[in-house]
Amino acid sequence: MIPVFRPSYGQEEFDAVREVMSSGWVGLGPKTREFEEKFQAYLGSGYASALNSGTAALHLAMLMADIKGREVITTPMTFVSTNHAILYSGGIPVFADIEPDTCNIDADCVEKLITKKTRAIVVVHYGGHACRMDKIMRLARKHKLLVIEDCAHAAGGEFKGKKLGTFGDFACFSFHAVKNLATGEGGMLVCRRKADYQHATRLRWLGISKDTWSRETKVKYSWYYFVEEVGWKAHLNDIPSAIGIVQLRRLDQTNAARRERAERYGRELADLDWMTLPVVQPNTAPAWHNYVIKTEHRDGLNAWLAQRGIATGVHYIPNNHYPMYKRCKGKTPVCEKVWATLLTLPLFPDLTADEQSQVIAEIRAYGRDKGLNA
Ligand SMILES: Cc1ncc(COP(=O)(O)O)c(C=O)c1O
Repeated sequence: MIPVFRPSYGQEEFDAVREVMSSGWVGLGPKTREFEEKFQAYLGSGYASALNSGTAALHLAMLMADIKGREVITTPMTFVSTNHAILYSGGIPVFADIEPDTCNIDADCVEKLITKKTRAIVVVHYGGHACRMDKIMRLARKHKLLVIEDCAHAAGGEFKGKKLGTFGDFACFSFHAVKNLATGEGGMLVCRRKADYQHATRLRWLGISKDTWSRETKVKYSWYYFVEEVGWKAHLNDIPSAIGIVQLRRLDQTNAARRERAERYGRELADLDWMTLPVVQPNTAPAWHNYVIKTEHRDGLNAWLAQRGIATGVHYIPNNHYPMYKRCKGKTPVCEKVWATLLTLPLFPDLTADEQSQVIAEIRAYGRDKGLNA
């Protein structure tokens, strides 16, 4: 089976894990700190706190944004974590529609939904393609709203030459097994303000004033700490952090491999007018987390490819279809129309030329079989 996603690991990741395991310190420690420092240097701004998932990053971001009892304008076209995080923190999700081409939240729809109750806007850079952060940030400044960037797909992506995750007040990255930077499970919360970073970093460790690594010094282990407020057990540890350091070092290279494969799909499927291919918007450098085509023949093509050993995915069922989000405010007619056509093709750095040829050939064969190809 050719999978939709596969992480890219080599000897360096194996060596990094062995080094940590041999060191005698596998919990939150020096590798976690090194990963945070390198990640924030890669982004070029913000304060990074390493967590055990992207969901935890979103949860803490919403807590920091103080959304309790307030509305948060969000997108239905995302993994459910984005919107669950609003509910974890007592916020009220309000769904804005999406742009038909990028599937990103539509800034014009966001503007129409802003009321006195609105506290924040959460944007998801779908597939690693940047949302229109200039418009979103202008709206946020005008109405004094906070912006949370869900960068789960977007590690390494850019808008107007700036890394995604450096625009909003908070950025939430996922290092889940299939992400561009994959540590198995893991995430990073990047805060614009140092005070938010310090608060989030306490909350990730049960609200305890000093984590075990800060209590460890070369001379003695200081047992003293205190607890000011309820926190969670959400920090990362040194094993995934060591993998993360290597994956971060390789990120530009693995993203370039994704881009090359995306461009090949673009060239070799361009003549099939029964599907629409993703387009790179002006001023953006996508992270190409996934390659999503749009076709009325989505379900037929999915079944055809599956029978021939090629996995595809659907990202996503709109979240306002789920029973628990059905009653939320916001009409999303574009999303309703577009989602039924979405199909994610295999795309990952180690997808071989032969595997990709097979995917392309089977897509074309489906079109021929159904009399769709021109
Ligand atoms: C858009 C989006 N947001 C949030 C998440 C949650 O990340 P995690 O699985 O690391 O909790 C994911 C991925 O799983 C995602 O795709």
